[in-house]
Amino acid sequence: MPVILKEVQKTYHLDSVDVPALSDISLEVRPDRFTVLSGPSGSGKTTLLNLIGCIDRPDAGDIVIEGQAIKDMSDDQLADFRARHIGFIFQNFNLLPVLTAYENVEYALLLSQVPAPQRKARVRDLLDAVGLADKGMHRPGQLSGGQRQRVAIARALAPAPRLVLADEPTANLDSQTGAAIVALMRRMQQEHRVSFVFSSHDPQVLAEADDAVFIRDGRITSIERRGEPARALA
Ligand SMILES: Nc1ncnc2c1ncn2[C@@H]1O[C@H](COP(=O)(O)OP(=O)(O)OP(=O)(O)O)[C@@H](O)[C@H]1O
Ligand SMILES: [Mg+2]
Repeated sequence: MPVILKEVQKTYHLDSVDVPALSDISLEVRPDRFTVLSGPSGSGKTTLLNLIGCIDRPDAGDIVIEGQAIKDMSDDQLADFRARHIGFIFQNFNLLPVLTAYENVEYALLLSQVPAPQRKARVRDLLDAVGLADKGMHRPGQLSGGQRQRVAIARALAPAPRLVLADEPTANLDSQTGAAIVALMRRMQQEHRVSFVFSSHDPQVLAEADDAVFIRDGRITSIERRGEPARALA
């Protein structure tokens, strides 16, 4: 799902002080790509991710998602669009502790009109795909950090979103587990043909990027477009 940002600006207001977070951001997030937002702490990565994911709106500039300008959409329309098309993987996983791994993934589908047999099959397929077929009955507290992150990935993909966003998805993982999670996300991105956009400091995540967007002090300093469609033939 293409997302286009044109001269986007975002300033936070804190106790009558203006905190500029993003200035003059123009970026095309290409469909079916693995895009990584990279930059030092405080450079604006989370802010930008929240704008791309329609969690927040810019102060100035335009964001066009699937050909539709978000400034023309009401908050309700935007929330509905987000629920149907965008999956989120949070840094602290945001799994519900009282639900099992299976139920956490299924939960993402309960709001949709998927009939129960298909729903159950989809949850099992996703848990299987992330290597947790035998952990469905475990609660998050009974899983390792890497396993929890796998549940979060399965959950984000459950409603078949067009775009999946993750804020520092490997930050809480050791490097070996992080590498396995990056490889898994890459495989899921290709198999499900969705756009993935991540923020990360992690060189392992950056190395997998088709498109790397470098940010500093709220501005894009460079964009590396690496993965052209020819890559799929290699
Ligand atoms: N809710 C907020 N209110 C005020 N200022 C904020 C708020 N959220 C972020 N900021 C400021 O906006 C700037 C960008 O923050 P942001 O969280 O986007 O950075 P980041 O690149 O994600 O950093 P990190 O790598 O540490 O997560 C920072 O100067 C930050 O202090
Ligand atoms: Mg951040």
